[in-house]
Amino acid sequence: MPSNTPPVADLASLAKFAGQAVTIRGWVHHLRSSGKVRFLVVRDGTGLAQGVLVKGNLPEEDFKQFDRLTLESSLILTGRVRAEPRAPGGYELEVISLQPLNIAQDYPIAPKEHGVAFLMDRRHLWLRSPRQQAVMRVRDEVCRACRGFFHARGFLEVDTPILTPTACEGTTNLFETDYLGRGKAYLSQSGQLYLEAAAMALGKVYCFGPTFRAEKSKTRRHLTEFWMVEAEAAFYTLEDIMQLAEDLVRFVVLKVLENQEVQLQILERDPTPLAAVSGPFPRLSYAETLARLQEQGKEPAWGEDLGGDEETLVSQMFDRPVLVHRYPLSCKAFYMEADPKDPRLALCMDMLAPEGYGEIIGGSQRVADLDTLLARLEEHHLPQEPLEWYLDLRRYGSVPHSGFGLGVERLVAWLCGLTHVREAIPFPRLLDRLYP
Ligand code: 4AD
Ligand code: MG
Repeated sequence: MPSNTPPVADLASLAKFAGQAVTIRGWVHHLRSSGKVRFLVVRDGTGLAQGVLVKGNLPEEDFKQFDRLTLESSLILTGRVRAEPRAPGGYELEVISLQPLNIAQDYPIAPKEHGVAFLMDRRHLWLRSPRQQAVMRVRDEVCRACRGFFHARGFLEVDTPILTPTACEGTTNLFETDYLGRGKAYLSQSGQLYLEAAAMALGKVYCFGPTFRAEKSKTRRHLTEFWMVEAEAAFYTLEDIMQLAEDLVRFVVLKVLENQEVQLQILERDPTPLAAVSGPFPRLSYAETLARLQEQGKEPAWGEDLGGDEETLVSQMFDRPVLVHRYPLSCKAFYMEADPKDPRLALCMDMLAPEGYGEIIGGSQRVADLDTLLARLEEHHLPQEPLEWYLDLRRYGSVPHSGFGLGVERLVAWLCGLTHVREAIPFPRLLDRLYP
């Protein structure tokens, strides 16, 4: 390449090239003509910048190409970078060459308001809009922060299988598939059981993967496919994982505040309620939670899990996430350890996000004793044979251990102030949506 070829630059790094010519590759975001001057705003995934075309600054042929451009056409342009305080990002490009790559057909998403169903049918295009890009950047920060947190704490990432022979979180919401004519396989509801085995090998582990729930639920918190980060640690108690979950959420939220301020602004998300995570999270037992709900005129029955509306109420009582612990064993999963101080209760916890967002984390201490676990399987009408391997963990050096799972989309929805988890994942899978 000749040495005078301008370097290719990301729009996010234009400032570094002030006074120089650079080449930009991207898509048309906006077009405008004013007298003899043509303006176009280009986006390239890293940012936006305005290009200015003035006759005489670029070949006549290139200048004419402007008239062919449409929204979302792709192009390569070269221009000199100059400071322009009024331009988005503070810099603009004085265009010296313009080469369209693909002239876009009439783009279906206009800046006007569209319904969610219309946009979701065009999710593959909707992702290009500034708001959706901002959500994806926050999500990326969340995922990276989770991994960073666990590695700094000495947790090892262990991948757990998606195709499984058994249920983890109850049998009513399993996606079923035929496994090569050898019987049924189910899409994983949680990596937990396998993570428990990994914790007995490696001590402190976590997994990060897709998770599937087939209940026919249509709430704003429900996806049929979502991503869960799960931690599991040998010798950890309920108290230990409550602290770990609190530290994780504090770390992730502070990282988003620190690194994604601009995205929160694009989303018009007030960061003040997020900053409250710096202080300690309140903790309430299930019994205390019922009492609080009664004060609000609710009549929750002892023994039932908290419903969506009740969760919303509890999560509005505090300015930061709250840990609700020790639910009745009868409404929880088979693997939870009973509280030795009151065997009707499980050594479990849920973390509820504030502002009405509700449960973002569920976790517990696990049953460590073989006979207790066998009795639990029977109570829950779960077959023993496909779980023999899981029972082995109680036959060969069983130890107290605990873990939890964090729903990535629930956390992202809260951080971004979204009204529904469907916007927190690139391609949502919902009761009524498998397209695109
Ligand atoms: O409370 P859950 O069902 O717990 C478990 O699966 C445990 N086995 C985790 C563990 O201890 N390792 O799910 C954990 C979290 C919930 O708190 C929620 O944030 C998220 O996963 N979640 C969902 N997110 C979106 N759509 C759904 N249908 C979800 N179901 C659970
Ligand atoms: Mg739960």
